[in-house]
Amino acid sequence: MKRTKVLFVCLGNICRSPTAEGVFRAVVEKEGLSDFVEIDSAGTSDWHVGRGPDERTVRAAASRGYDLSSLRGRQAEAADFAKFDFVLAMDSSNLNDLKQLKPDGYSGYLGLFLDFAQSFELADVPDPYYGGEEGFNFVLDLVEDACRGLLRHIKSR
Ligand code: 4NP
Repeated sequence: MKRTKVLFVCLGNICRSPTAEGVFRAVVEKEGLSDFVEIDSAGTSDWHVGRGPDERTVRAAASRGYDLSSLRGRQAEAADFAKFDFVLAMDSSNLNDLKQLKPDGYSGYLGLFLDFAQSFELADVPDPYYGGEEGFNFVLDLVEDACRGLLRHIKSR
């Protein structure tokens, strides 16, 4: 398989994109493809740089067997486009911000992560930050589905 680098991006890099990073790592590892796929996540904002994921995110992920505790927030930067083959936004607002950041001539894939979902019709992963526990579990439902679709796409390249 072609070596592929994937960056997941949300607003704060403490809820949705770390969830996607942790779940995609697990999905890729399960198929024995970890040597071929590099995975990272970032936020469009600098609000939580250097901090671990939101504790509600860590707890919800742990309940499904994903360990997000070692992840640390960072801000997305223009240089990310020189490195990553896929830059995947969690929602349309994140995608608009990334389009502003994207250097001319980027030849990789910049788009919505949920374009790879197979069982859901949503465009955006809803921001769970101001809601209850069920929002974090719904993020996991969406992310698990889209991660499977994304790996299927990458394997077919
Ligand atoms: P995320 O969620 O973009 O999925 O990490 C958020 C985290 C923090 C804030 C908003 C959304 N905030 O307003 O600090």
